[in-house]
Amino acid sequence: MTRRPIGIIVNGVTGRMGYRQHLVRSLLAIREQGGIPLADGTTIWPEPVLVGRSETRLREIAERHGLTDWTTDLSAALARDDVQIYFDAQVTQQREKAIRQAIDAGKHIYTEKPLAEESAAALDLARAATAAGVRTGVVQDKLFLPGLRKLKRLIDGGFFGRILSVRGEFGYWVFEGDWQPAQRPSWNYRAEDGGGIVMDMFPHWQYVLEELFGRVRAVSCVTATHIPERVDESGRSYPATADDAAYGIFELEGGIVAQLNSSWCVRVNRDELVEFQVDGTEGSAVAGLRTCRAQHRSVTPKPVWNPDLPVTENFRAQWTEVPDNEEFDNGFKVQWESFLRHVVADEPFRWDFLAGARGVQLAELGLLSAREQRRVEVAELAR
Ligand SMILES: NC(=O)c1ccc[n+]([C@@H]2O[C@H](COP(=O)([O-])OP(=O)(O)OC[C@H]3O[C@@H](n4cnc5c(N)ncnc54)[C@H](O)[C@@H]3O)[C@@H](O)[C@H]2O)c1
Repeated sequence: MTRRPIGIIVNGVTGRMGYRQHLVRSLLAIREQGGIPLADGTTIWPEPVLVGRSETRLREIAERHGLTDWTTDLSAALARDDVQIYFDAQVTQQREKAIRQAIDAGKHIYTEKPLAEESAAALDLARAATAAGVRTGVVQDKLFLPGLRKLKRLIDGGFFGRILSVRGEFGYWVFEGDWQPAQRPSWNYRAEDGGGIVMDMFPHWQYVLEELFGRVRAVSCVTATHIPERVDESGRSYPATADDAAYGIFELEGGIVAQLNSSWCVRVNRDELVEFQVDGTEGSAVAGLRTCRAQHRSVTPKPVWNPDLPVTENFRAQWTEVPDNEEFDNGFKVQWESFLRHVVADEPFRWDFLAGARGVQLAELGLLSAREQRRVEVAELAR
């Protein structure tokens, strides 16, 4: 089979997401499966060019995976004719500048979310990319989670009747870093470094809500910095200036109300780190990362409120597991494959910079709502 090599700059490859999900679980996994087959019999073959700040760490990653192409010089990598795509998994604050450079170099661009720190900048990137004629994409991995795919299947099959509400719980305890190291990078807890759970999670909630249930028309949000001091990677205490919990209410098209709690200061008493309960007139479902359980109207029990008696029913046992019915691949990889087909074979791809800008907009308006203690309407973003 003829290979169609495509040079891809992977900037921020030493980071958690850049290395694990994008290099190893996506681009290298695509190579391990023999590339991406196209209808004309050729295959797309990703050729990663690792870019970062530390020579030592880049060399170490390259050697670990038998790769040879790495550099600390982004401009030089962008100047190469055999590089067609720029991918960004750097810390959020570094993203906009690097993406502008990539647009100027005429590269197609795929990036982690959020696209930028402000929606005006995100929209400007979308417009600049369109003007330059380059293709764009933003990671929207949660759409490809098995749990959410099964939930979408229930929605598409009309299981819920009229959907009334969505209740989401996302979060887990992120250690403060004093007596046990924190399991997330410290920049996430500093506003001045682009951190904060609203900027991190609302871009995800925007596309999950819009693609599954309907456009977000208004947001009301309360944020908190529950843990005011944390300890960083080198053992130094720092003031945590960013929001570490967000309690949001989202009003959707069609009258659906979604309430989503996002927190790094909550201990897990759920089956999964994120769970959404959807209630509709005909049925309800609870979807997590991998599983989805449903309860139809016809088998709904009739609890009667009586605090004087012990609970007599095992409510959780009354739900039915929604079967997989297909094999689910890694979500990051599935979206990479789709973006690469878009660039190489002109296949449609709807998660572009404008879609990414909507995510930034929702985060920005969530923060505005929290700051001004009011409900904020979400205007439709146009190109
Ligand atoms: N899609 C998802 O589910 C998901 C999950 C977590 C993070 N993210 C996004 O991925 C991006 C990276 O997050 P991460 O958790 O991998 O972070 P990380 O701290 O592990 O990695 C950050 C990367 O950016 C590089 N970098 C470049 N300039 C830097 C600077 N000035 N200061 C510090 N690092 C710099 C680092 O070297 C590293 O390679 C963020 O934009 C984040 O919003 C997405």
